[in-house]
Amino acid sequence: MCLDKIVIVGGKPLKGEVEISGAKNAAVAIIPAAILVEGPCRIENVPQIKDVSLIIDILYRMGASVRTIDKSTVEIDCSKMRIAAAPSELSRKMRASYYLIGALLGRFSQAQVDLPGGCDFGVRPIDQHIKGFEALGAKVKVEHGIIYAGANELKANNIYLDVVSVGATINIMLAAVKAKGHTVIENAAKEPHIVDVANFLNSMGADVKGAGTDLIKINGVARLYGGNYTIIPDQIEAGTFMVAAAITGGEVLVKNVIPKHLESISAKLSDAGVDVIEYDEAVLVKSSGHLTKANVKTLPYPGFPTDMHPQMAALLCVAEGTSIINESVWDNRFRYVDELKRLGANIQVDGKIAVIEGTKLSGATVKACDLRAGAAMVIAGLAANGTTVIEEIDHIERGYENITDKLKSLGADIKKISTTDSLMAEKIV
Ligand code: EPU
Repeated sequence: MCLDKIVIVGGKPLKGEVEISGAKNAAVAIIPAAILVEGPCRIENVPQIKDVSLIIDILYRMGASVRTIDKSTVEIDCSKMRIAAAPSELSRKMRASYYLIGALLGRFSQAQVDLPGGCDFGVRPIDQHIKGFEALGAKVKVEHGIIYAGANELKANNIYLDVVSVGATINIMLAAVKAKGHTVIENAAKEPHIVDVANFLNSMGADVKGAGTDLIKINGVARLYGGNYTIIPDQIEAGTFMVAAAITGGEVLVKNVIPKHLESISAKLSDAGVDVIEYDEAVLVKSSGHLTKANVKTLPYPGFPTDMHPQMAALLCVAEGTSIINESVWDNRFRYVDELKRLGANIQVDGKIAVIEGTKLSGATVKACDLRAGAAMVIAGLAANGTTVIEEIDHIERGYENITDKLKSLGADIKKISTTDSLMAEKIV
């Protein structure tokens, strides 16, 4: 278990500018997609986060050559990869390792990957991924926690997703991009990172049309060649800083964003009494600190993202009135609620609905139960009176690049205490 902690003294309004990094959920799909490419892929705007290091490490161990060009650019060449099996101990640690199945199937018509790990929101099935692979002609079995998929040759097909799934949409695209014929994915997810993966594949020579709509058409091509690609900015990191600015009564210019991707978040912040001004590649968030109730329902894109739910809940804890959050994507995304209660939040959960009564928060020791729950703790800590200590921050570091430094540069009183520091502190106490 990670012993590092984040310590925040709340009450400082955030002011200034912050630069958003590349999108985590695009990077963790685009990097394994490089398996399909014969030749070097230079990928820019790669976020420096643990999930990205992990997926790069997995590719490296499978025979990819990896060159770090600068802090956000990596060159990956999988031409010499000969193994269609991913290393178990690493792939179990992250959700996105399931993209290795689609990419390996697309390249070798074979894949062996452990069932994925990642945040715990209750059951996280992958039946739609498997349905897609089988429709493309693969035989798939899951034994002792390992997924085996294989075909003599993948063949294009029409696939209707029973559930709108980001992962299944991307995984089927990866498997189908080199399959002979025309594959159609109906009821596809439309998240910005799906468009980004399709753009990456197209820039390497693929023929994918319709990404960003619910009908994706893939014309199988024989080969993908190397090239350069820049990952889009992270919608959820941007949203997290927007909410952090809002809860502290701050004024922050959130830079390197695509404002269109943030519309549902901007709209909910406006409902809560916050001003959001859009520029070409930035949004300015201005808050008086007086927040009012809002109702939120999470939905697939372009709806309000489930990955912004815990952060928005933290904000609504201090908003005047009664707010309601309806989580419609995941069965159990409320594990953060008990932690917010430690800070004094007044939240009741019934099934997929949380009812939040606005109040004041005060500092306490809490844990990051998962990635976005951890971001919610940071946001709540910035608004709470006194000191908040956040434990198990490895979850946060899986998905946020330098969150403490970025917040510090905006005037937050925040620091990370490393394992050795915390052990010393315990001894001194
Ligand atoms: N679902 C199925 N069957 C499947 C796949 C999904 O029933 O085969 C259901 C899920 O149980 C869920 C819904 O469909 O109720 C949506 O799941 P989806 O497949 O879209 O989620 P995912 O691909 O596993 C990605 C993000 C998550 C984000 C969700 C929803 C990555 C690596 N993860 O997960 O991001 O919550 O989409 O937008 O892209 C995060 O970044 O913190 C995070 C958890």
